[in-house]
Amino acid sequence: MISCIIKTKSKVFFAFLFALVVSFGAFAQEQAAEQADVAAKGVVPGATEGATTSATPAGDPAVIDAGEALFKNNCVVCHSAGSDVIVGPGLQGVTERRNEAWLIKWIKNSQALIQAGDKDAVAIYNEYNKQAMPSFALSDDEVKSILAYIKSGKGVVSAPVAGPEDAVAGENVGTDAIGAVGGYLDIVLVVLIVVLIVLVVTLLLITSLLKNYLNKTRTLDEYDNEIVNQRFDFSKIYKSNAVRTLVVLIFVVVLLDLTIDKVMGIGIQEGYQPKQPIAFSHKLHAGEHQINCNYCHTTVYESKSASIPSANICMNCHSQIKTESPEIQKIYKAIERNRPIEWVRIHNLPDLAYFNHSQHTQVGGVECQTCHGPIEEMDVVYQYSPLTMGWCIDCHRETPLNTEGNEYYDKLVELHEASSAGAFTVSSNGGTECSKCHY
Ligand code: HEC
Ligand code: HEC
Ligand code: HEC
Ligand code: HEC
Ligand code: HEC
Ligand code: HEC
Repeated sequence: MISCIIKTKSKVFFAFLFALVVSFGAFAQEQAAEQADVAAKGVVPGATEGATTSATPAGDPAVIDAGEALFKNNCVVCHSAGSDVIVGPGLQGVTERRNEAWLIKWIKNSQALIQAGDKDAVAIYNEYNKQAMPSFALSDDEVKSILAYIKSGKGVVSAPVAGPEDAVAGENVGTDAIGAVGGYLDIVLVVLIVVLIVLVVTLLLITSLLKNYLNKTRTLDEYDNEIVNQRFDFSKIYKSNAVRTLVVLIFVVVLLDLTIDKVMGIGIQEGYQPKQPIAFSHKLHAGEHQINCNYCHTTVYESKSASIPSANICMNCHSQIKTESPEIQKIYKAIERNRPIEWVRIHNLPDLAYFNHSQHTQVGGVECQTCHGPIEEMDVVYQYSPLTMGWCIDCHRETPLNTEGNEYYDKLVELHEASSAGAFTVSSNGGTECSKCHY
């Protein structure tokens, strides 16, 4: 009889706790979503404002034309007249957001306004990571003409990027937001686990309290007594087949995962072709436009590493070329956010091996293509060679050293020819000794 009461009571209690946990989870998720929302808005300021403001009717066309010329000469590297963020915010609707006197002061000398502590100026300066906009020695009328041009909406019509550009912004925002939510979910999980542990402990405490109470104050019949005073038997759980199978299964899965990681980690990844953050094509740049490899991979003839070009190298050309392309806009975004473009590394020897580019390209005269394949035909680069130890050594055994006109080798070659018939290869010069490639 009593056991029945305990059972129903605990059921109600469990239902209540379950509801509590679920609603807590939902609350946390809502917060995460909100957070993501805020993150998203932080990344593309102005994009939404721009969309809601309508272009006002045009003013004096001559003034607008003058403004257009000034804008194109001075502002277009960092601003669009639409809603797109380049280095600074899109200026569409800025004449509604700010008053004219403020805009004139800002454009002539934004730093002065910031230093004077103007609230809006400081806010936008911070929002754009404290990138200083240059000062412009323009007259008030010239600034007004620029503002008239922005207000006319003329620059918006001629900027076809609005569609695809928004898509790019959306994409970046998406990953940022996912990151934020991902981090949040981890926290939510940990909190849930802690809550569950607390619950279990509380429940155990409650049962033991109830048990004590019942034992002390009531006389129980035999059946109730058995229920109330039953022991929790750990050895039963341990002996249960289901539990044992589960443990073995988890063990096997973890082991498998570890071995797969190990095998992948050795670096045998022939054909590896990851998706890159920007659709950069070697076929276009090194193939069609015949840009030298070392224009971008600047250190490939001089040092160990070939180096991946920074966004600044791209800007040598792309501050002018294809500026409207959504892919090129990603370069601007990286610069604006002051973050490197996150290219995915393709070739990667394990740390135990030493490889030096200049030794091969400059000294050995080996062509890039011998090791990297027809890069100038690849839209997306993939790993052409296996990069295994066997691959390095095979080439060292077969490749004759270029000793012509190098006095350093004369004696060595003489000695070699006296003792063996084959050519004087990299290997004859000690190129297969372990210590040459291993630290
Ligand atoms: C070298 C890049 C650069 C150039 C060139 C530049 N700006 Fe800016 N501008 C910025 C940045 C960055 C901001 C954001 C605030 C900050 O960080 O100082 C900004 C902010 C602004 C703002 C404030 C926008 C707002 O939403 O309040 C206006 C207006 C503006 N610029 C107008 C101009 C005009 C007009 C020109 C050309 C005469 C110009 N800018 C040239 C980088 C530039
Ligand atoms: C206009 C600049 C540019 C030129 C010219 C260029 N590259 Fe690249 N290269 C890059 C960029 C950016 C990456 C990183 C993105 C990628 O993998 O596509 C890269 C990546 C590579 C990689 C893969 C690096 C890794 O992650 O392991 C190789 C190999 C390579 N380039 C070889 C060459 C060769 C060979 C040439 C000349 C035929 C060449 N590149 C010309 C810009 C350039
Ligand atoms: C020496 C000049 C030069 C450099 C440096 C350069 N590019 Fe280019 N890039 C070009 C030319 C030329 C085109 C072709 C433009 C066309 O098709 O009209 C181009 C096209 C592109 C395109 C295709 C754009 C589209 O939408 O069609 C992308 C993406 C691109 N480049 C990315 C990069 C990146 C990333 C870098 C830096 C690693 C870089 N470029 C460095 C000259 C250059
Ligand atoms: C003898 C073979 C060989 C030749 C020749 C060669 N590379 Fe490499 N390259 C490699 C190997 C191996 C790696 C991986 C290096 C590592 O992970 O430390 C690599 C990596 C790279 C990378 C990635 C960045 C880095 O330094 O790790 C770039 C870019 C690259 N090579 C470009 C070039 C260019 C451009 C040339 C021609 C001028 C060239 N390579 C010639 C074997 C070669
Ligand atoms: C396509 C042929 C080729 C491949 C593949 C190649 N090498 Fe070489 N390697 C050479 C040549 C040629 C030289 C000689 C350069 C010179 O003239 O000193 C050399 C020299 C060397 C040296 C200097 C040897 C000495 O005697 O001082 C080292 C170290 C080396 N390579 C490491 C590697 C490693 C590590 C790999 C594989 C990741 C590799 N090489 C792959 C052709 C190759
Ligand atoms: C020409 C360069 C070169 C020489 C010479 C060379 N190795 Fe290696 N070795 C490599 C490279 C590159 C790797 C990494 C690629 C791989 O795992 O296949 C490697 C990997 C290894 C590994 C790790 C293999 C693994 O599975 O992780 C061992 C162990 C090793 N080398 C031992 C030696 C010994 C011993 C010698 C001398 C007899 C030697 N190596 C000579 C280039 C060389």
